[in-house]
Order: sequence, then C-alpha cells, then structure tokens
Amino acid sequence: MEVDSVLVTGANRGIGLEFVKQLLRLPKPPHYVFATYRDEKSIQALEEVKEAHKQTQVVLIKMDIEKTKEIENAKKIVEGIVGDKGLNLLINNAGILKIQVFREITEENLLRHFSTNTIGPVMVLKEMLPLLQKSAARKTLGMNISRAAVLNLSATLGSISLRSDLIQAKWLETIGYRTSKAALNMAMQVIARTVKDQGILVVNICPGWVKTDMGTSQAMLEVTESISAIIETLQRLNETHHGSFLDRNGNVIPF
Ligand SMILES: NC(=O)c1ccc[n+]([C@@H]2O[C@H](COP(=O)([O-])OP(=O)(O)OC[C@H]3O[C@@H](n4cnc5c(N)ncnc54)[C@H](OP(=O)(O)O)[C@@H]3O)[C@@H](O)[C@H]2O)c1
Repeated sequence: MEVDSVLVTGANRGIGLEFVKQLLRLPKPPHYVFATYRDEKSIQALEEVKEAHKQTQVVLIKMDIEKTKEIENAKKIVEGIVGDKGLNLLINNAGILKIQVFREITEENLLRHFSTNTIGPVMVLKEMLPLLQKSAARKTLGMNISRAAVLNLSATLGSISLRSDLIQAKWLETIGYRTSKAALNMAMQVIARTVKDQGILVVNICPGWVKTDMGTSQAMLEVTESISAIIETLQRLNETHHGSFLDRNGNVIPF
C-alpha cells in the first residue's frame, strides 16, 4: 500500500494509535502522518512512536472533533505541510460508547453519541475535503487508497437490517452508540454519492469487537489483528466499494 499522507483522528490510544503504528511499519510508509489527540497528557505513546520512526514526518495535532476551531486549525496545519499534494487518506476513527439502557436513556447520552460519532466525522471530512480533492486530482483514474480516500470506523452494531437475533441482547444497552453509527453510515452514503465523480473513495469499516478501552478486555480481537486485517482490506478497495459498509476482511455488512 502506498499512501503519501494520512490523518488519523483519536490517535492517542486504541484503534487510532494502532493505525498509526502499523502505517509507519508499512514497507513504503507514508511521508506524513497526522495523528490527532485531545489532551496533551495522553500523547506519551504517540511521542514514542514518533521518536521511533524518523523516516516519516509524524505530526501530532490537538483536535477535538466536536470543536470547529480545532478542526479548522488542524486543516491549516495539514495544508501547510502537504501543500499541493493534498491529503491522501483520512481515517475518521475518534468515537465514544456510553452504555445506557433505553429505560434510563437521557437526551444527553443520545446527543453526546450523535455529536461525537456522527457530526464529528462529517465536519472533519467537510473541512479536509479540499485537501483530499487535491490528492485525487494528482491521479486521473479510478478510486483507491493510494489516490484519495476516507475510512470511517463504523460498527456492525449500527446495522439496521442485520438479523437482530445475530446480535447479542446485551448490545441493546448501547442504543445511543448504535443510533449514532447508523446515522454515520447514512451520512457517509450521502457524502459518497455527493463526491462520487471526484476520485475520493469513501468507505465505512467495522473493525470487529476489539480489545481497547471501548471494546474492553472481553472483546474477541487483539487490536493488532483487527488493524492488520483492515490494512490488508484497504489495499484491495476500488470504485466498486465506494460508499460501502464492510467488515475488517472486506465482506459486506448490510446497512
Ligand atoms: N473497540 C471496538 O470493539 C470497536 C468496535 C466497532 C467500532 N469501533 C470504533 O472504532 C473507533 C475507535 O474505537 P476504540 O476502540 O479505539 O475506542 P477507544 O479506545 O475508546 O478510543 C477512542 C478514541 O477516540 C478519541 N475521541 C473520543 N471523543 C473524541 C472527540 N470528541 N474528539 C477527538 N477525539 C475523540 C479518544 O480520545 P481521548 O483519549 O481524548 O478520549 C480516543 O483517542 C470508534 O469510532 C469506535 O466506535 C470500535
């Protein structure tokens, strides 16, 4: 996989951090990795990764995906570094999951999920779109990860049409999360159709149930195996996958 520049949101821990680590270990690593975080106190792991990979310019950027000013500032930083080459790959990874059953659900819980998991990725993509367009314009044919692409970390739990008996009853406790991921999928469908002639591949991928702070230690997958599978899958994507919802191995998940 040849990717010139990547921006990963929520890169200080979990799946985002693992993306940064594995992208830097590619046979041809990106020239630029923009890794975003919210809190300076949480970037030690990122600092260590940056120190260990001098062949790539790793740029740490403070960006809360719910804060317009911070998103705009992040765009300026990226633009100032990549210039006319634009941004090759945006990984909309940052997300939250706050368990709350329906009988106790609060407006605050629903809004928090919607703000972080749906609106945040949309606003980040809106801001970064001109940079993705620049990257896409440098190559003329097709859609692929090396030209210009957006990967959204979605979740099977956001599938409306997947047979409900295949999803364990305990996941009913995640109504806010599931609703926000279903909305993310729809938002990205609309965006995918909107940008379909611009050479920017948009795809939603579920990483599986992964051992992170969000996934907990009960999860099925190590973060390393989930992300290596996604990176394998990314390399195979083309225009037939534009706007799709896939599992980490590239199998279609029904919306
Ligand atoms: N783990 C799983 O089993 C699983 C399954 C399906 C989908 N996913 C999806 O994969 C993505 C990553 O999950 P994860 O397991 O790595 O979660 P995690 O361990 O809880 O990490 C979440 C990351 O998102 C960041 N974040 C949260 N709210 C943010 C905001 N408003 N602005 C910027 N960054 C924010 C966090 O930053 P702070 O450190 O500052 O809080 C952290 O870096 C999420 O979108 C999640 O829904 C995960």
